[in-house]
Amino acid sequence: MISENMEKALNHQIALEGYASQYYLAMASWCDREGMEGAAAFLHNQSEEEREHMLKIFHYLSEVDGFPITPGLEQPPIEFESVQEVFRLVYEHEKKVTASINKLLGICYAENDYTTLQFLQWYVEEQREEENQARTILDKIKLIGEGGQSLYYIDKELKKILAAAMAAEADAGAEEA
Ligand code: FEO
Repeated sequence: MISENMEKALNHQIALEGYASQYYLAMASWCDREGMEGAAAFLHNQSEEEREHMLKIFHYLSEVDGFPITPGLEQPPIEFESVQEVFRLVYEHEKKVTASINKLLGICYAENDYTTLQFLQWYVEEQREEENQARTILDKIKLIGEGGQSLYYIDKELKKILAAAMAAEADAGAEEA
């Protein structure tokens, strides 16, 4: 049985992950329109991952006799200045998600809720990876610059990063099976 306070905090996290999914989808659409198909594919994949993050908490809440709340769809920004701005915003959003996960961990300790604490370990690791990935991409974009040819290289680079991430996921899936 989960406390009311923890249930509320986990529902807040569900909404945050759901919003991230919408936000990254809007970014994918913008990148696609700007002819950056590697960036668009990367962000589509991120958007799907965020939906999975949301659902993971959703199912957990049901499992522990809580009531997961389906968040409303909030319109995210749909126009961006540049691909650098897109990834700066991704990085900022990931930092916000990490801060929120840390807050949840604080509630776990305050309430001696070690079941939720254990459940959240996966998110701690995931956030470390996602923040690191967003920061690395942002650093690369800053280094390469954003002229016409640079955008081409950034886009190619993002295709490579996505392919590597998907291969790593497939490996992890094979190990689990
Ligand atoms: Fe699920 Fe990227 O936070």
